Amino acid sequence: MPGLFDFFSYKGLHLRNRIMMSSMCQYQAENKDGNPTDWHFVHYTSRAIGGIGLIFLEMTNIELRGRISDQCLTFHSKDQVPHYKRIVDECHKYGSKIGIQLAHAGRKSVIDGNDIVGPGDDPFSEDSPIPRALEIEEIKEIIGKYGTSASLAVQAGFDTIEIHGAHGYLLHQFMSPASNHRNDQYGSYHVFPVEVIREIRSNIPKDMPLILRISAVEYGKNGYDFNHMLNFIPYFLEAGVDMLDVSTGGNDPVRPKVYPAYQTRYAQEIKEKFNIPVISVGRLENPDVAESIIRDGRADLVAIGRGLLREPYWAKEAAVKLNQEVKLPGVYDLGFSV
Ligand SMILES: Cc1cc2nc3c(=O)[nH]c(=O)nc-3n(C[C@H](O)[C@H](O)[C@H](O)COP(=O)(O)O)c2cc1C
Repeated sequence: MPGLFDFFSYKGLHLRNRIMMSSMCQYQAENKDGNPTDWHFVHYTSRAIGGIGLIFLEMTNIELRGRISDQCLTFHSKDQVPHYKRIVDECHKYGSKIGIQLAHAGRKSVIDGNDIVGPGDDPFSEDSPIPRALEIEEIKEIIGKYGTSASLAVQAGFDTIEIHGAHGYLLHQFMSPASNHRNDQYGSYHVFPVEVIREIRSNIPKDMPLILRISAVEYGKNGYDFNHMLNFIPYFLEAGVDMLDVSTGGNDPVRPKVYPAYQTRYAQEIKEKFNIPVISVGRLENPDVAESIIRDGRADLVAIGRGLLREPYWAKEAAVKLNQEVKLPGVYDLGFSV
């Protein structure tokens, strides 16, 4: 089995190692149009300099209404392409591949005066705004907007796209019996995500891997179990998803007990059942843990979140610990000399 620092190749995506930077909202966008700023440029390119194989841009919304806060990113118009391309090109310069996570916050938006929408009118929590149930025509429009954002992402040079179907955002809201009580066709939990997947697939090159992030289980009182999600995976794969990025929770304020690799068993089971590449995430920043997940074949990539907020050069630190070679650009390697 390969290790953490071995090459990974799937369709047109070729990575120098199996370390992914997990999507993490920065809340630093220009608040009028959702464009990335210098913050994002520095944040993402420093992780590219730090040797990450695949950098994922944070949750980037397909329309302004779909933002959590008014400092979240959106990618909905052609004028925005240069703003994203600047980050993509710079990350490429340092050898990282870069993906974008396309999303819509739905009922988890907390912007004052926003048209907050969801499958129905159940709020996320007692303190959350009451959403408005989307009309069928509006759902179709949103599906079209996912396609537009995907095609803009291709123009900006992104190497892959991840659809955010987890953590209680709009697609997840439709997948969950706790939030979707609709009586129309979108009351079938997989239908909206499947239509989004098809739309995105038809707007990106054939050899570009399409990744879906899911919440394998929910934790609240009415939360679904793993079997509920396992039932939908064949539909998602048939619609054009290549890889799953396996997280949990988020559609309810209840949080799980967190410990190293607390979500990995779900990724592993999906990999074994469906024979597809999977990404595992969730407290994997101990290099021995990350390495053993890859060596044991439990996942194909490990995604690091908070560990990379603490340490942009986490990949180098991990390589030193695991006796692997990672060469940082410029004089940065001198920082690790003894
Ligand atoms: C500040 C912050 C922002 C996050 N934003 C996103 C996001 O935009 N999209 C997403 O799928 N997950 C998001 N997450 C979750 C992370 O991607 C990751 O799944 C989670 O932090 C667990 O991984 P870790 O233990 O390595 O941090 C965020 C996490 C943090 C800490």
